[in-house]
Amino acid sequence: MMQTVTPIAELRGLIADWKAAGDSIAFVPTMGNLHAGHLHLVDTARQLATRTVVSIFVNPFQFGPREDFAAYPRTPEQDGGKLAEAGVDLLFMPDSRDIYPGSPEQMTFVEVPGLSHDLCGHFRPGHFRGVATIVLKLFNLVQPDWAVFGAKDYQQWLIVKRMVTDLNLPLRLHLAETQRESGGLALSSRNGYLSPAEKAIAASLHHSLDEAAESVRSGVTDYTAIEREHIDRLTGKGFQVDYFSIRRADDLGLPENGTRQLIVLVAVRLGKTRLIDNLRVYRDETL
Ligand code: PAF
Repeated sequence: MMQTVTPIAELRGLIADWKAAGDSIAFVPTMGNLHAGHLHLVDTARQLATRTVVSIFVNPFQFGPREDFAAYPRTPEQDGGKLAEAGVDLLFMPDSRDIYPGSPEQMTFVEVPGLSHDLCGHFRPGHFRGVATIVLKLFNLVQPDWAVFGAKDYQQWLIVKRMVTDLNLPLRLHLAETQRESGGLALSSRNGYLSPAEKAIAASLHHSLDEAAESVRSGVTDYTAIEREHIDRLTGKGFQVDYFSIRRADDLGLPENGTRQLIVLVAVRLGKTRLIDNLRVYRDETL
């Protein structure tokens, strides 16, 4: 039976009991409005440990002043049902006042330099500081042996990985692959903002990623030309492109000639919806 917990003391008590009984804990942090992508993270977590904990918390500090914090979809009852059915042991739904008891001006934030200011960080100043801070807080509260993140938020994944290494956090991380609709659109809570017409257009994001990845695989090394071609194409379809970028997969740095493990990343706005996606690509050793 899944337990749903809000007070921090209750969470800590349950986790302590489980640890004393020899259980291991896998954790999936979420902002709720759960879809099949989240449930894939949960399935992955369940294979890693004896107990699975999911958190739902819409974290205000990772939204910019003109972003969708107030409008972000909140569906706690449906989410609880899905998680119970998926075999989750504990759903942690903290109260914002317990997570952020002090005034923002006096608060401790976690800053992962460099990576946090590039790509999405450039277009969403403060976003990754907010993400790193809440993820560290949740790790301190849940004290998991494993934490599972989705590859759609690949930059977030690298930032969390860096934070875990730099702060010597005693847990292991697992990256779960992006889940997609049949047309290729990556599953995201923000897809719910799209009108049917926008949804049809949004599927072409994945086609662009596929084609760019194929160009890289086939030996094209003028990455700027590939990027420009897809920015033009997506713009022509009605997207406002924040970036379409080919980077090193390990640290999102600019690729050199010999870089084998690459990633194509895209962020766009379509109407009022911001969408991100990416595709990792391995250049053939023989090219
Ligand atoms: O990926 C998300 O849903 C959020 O950024 C996370 C990791 C739950 C932190 O709020």
